[in-house]
Amino acid sequence: MRLLWKKFRPLARGAYRIFGGLRGFMYDFQRYLRFGGWRENLNDKSLRNYKLAMAYHGLEKSLSFKKRKPNSGWSNAERVYRKLKVANNIMNIGFHDKAGKEVLLQFLNLPENKKTNRASKMINDVTKFDFKDDFQNHGSISFKSEDYGKGILEDPESFFLSRYSLRDFQQKNINPKDIERAIKMAMKTPSVCNRQAWHIYHSNKPEIIKKVLEYQNGNRGFGNQVPELFIIGVDLRAFFVGQEHYQHWIDGGLFSMSLIYTLHALGIASCALNWSQTPDIDKKIRKIITIDKHHTIIMMLAAGYPNTENKVCSSKRKPIEEIYSQIELK
Ligand SMILES: Cc1cc2nc3c(=O)[nH]c(=O)nc-3n(C[C@H](O)[C@H](O)[C@H](O)COP(=O)(O)O)c2cc1C
Repeated sequence: MRLLWKKFRPLARGAYRIFGGLRGFMYDFQRYLRFGGWRENLNDKSLRNYKLAMAYHGLEKSLSFKKRKPNSGWSNAERVYRKLKVANNIMNIGFHDKAGKEVLLQFLNLPENKKTNRASKMINDVTKFDFKDDFQNHGSISFKSEDYGKGILEDPESFFLSRYSLRDFQQKNINPKDIERAIKMAMKTPSVCNRQAWHIYHSNKPEIIKKVLEYQNGNRGFGNQVPELFIIGVDLRAFFVGQEHYQHWIDGGLFSMSLIYTLHALGIASCALNWSQTPDIDKKIRKIITIDKHHTIIMMLAAGYPNTENKVCSSKRKPIEEIYSQIELK
């Protein structure tokens, strides 16, 4: 009997894992069906705004090309115009509504477009829409090589190689201004069509952190002394094209990494906490804290100031040869 079990154990384990994976896929599919952005409802502010972002971003790209194809961009202009009309009718205005209006006007006012009949009609309508964004520089902007140069770090290795996950923080809260600053900088993270579907949940209340971390499976030994906890979520409504079914994980992962680095740039240490959870646990945590049902939890992040002396995992990296290949034609 023992021999038989030994023989079949790898198979049983494999089957159990596949079953776990399947449950996860099914749960994600259910969430995609219930909360994904596939519905064509422009009256819904969130759905309309995410779709607008995609359309006006197409225009922004067109505006940024040094050599624009004559007559290009009109299909996106029509899409933006249609959505803005809905926004103007219901007057429940979001960020992308305002940005879309500014970008559309920039496109319509291009010398080659302005003189056309359809541009004058649209300009006439859009300028009357009763919302605008005074503070942002939308559309295309000039950006010199010296502007890019501002990002060059004097010693990049010292920045990147001095980040270690920390699991033993000073028992002190982070300055709220630094939290805001870190999040604002992390918001410069690229996202698909600039949809920015992230949502950051944050708490430094010990009773809340304790309750949340009871459901997270990687904080044993240090979860009880985490001063600040972030939960990074992504809004499923932002993803409507079928092939985008994984995009929220990607955009959320990129944002999370940026936040880790912006915190690091301000002297704040952190430790990513996985949310590779079962559907049951994901449902349970939504019963105890306020997570919007449309938001998928990507991961959590424990953060705080490092102590003067710390012990961290060395977590050495593989040799680059193991992870780098030239792309070759087959
Ligand atoms: C998505 C993600 C989830 C993680 N989850 C956990 C976790 O649950 N518990 C933990 O102690 N560390 C967690 N980590 C931290 C990794 O163990 C750590 O990043 C890795 O060992 C490399 O070490 P370093 O961050 O110090 O360079 C996670 C990291 C990532 C990126």
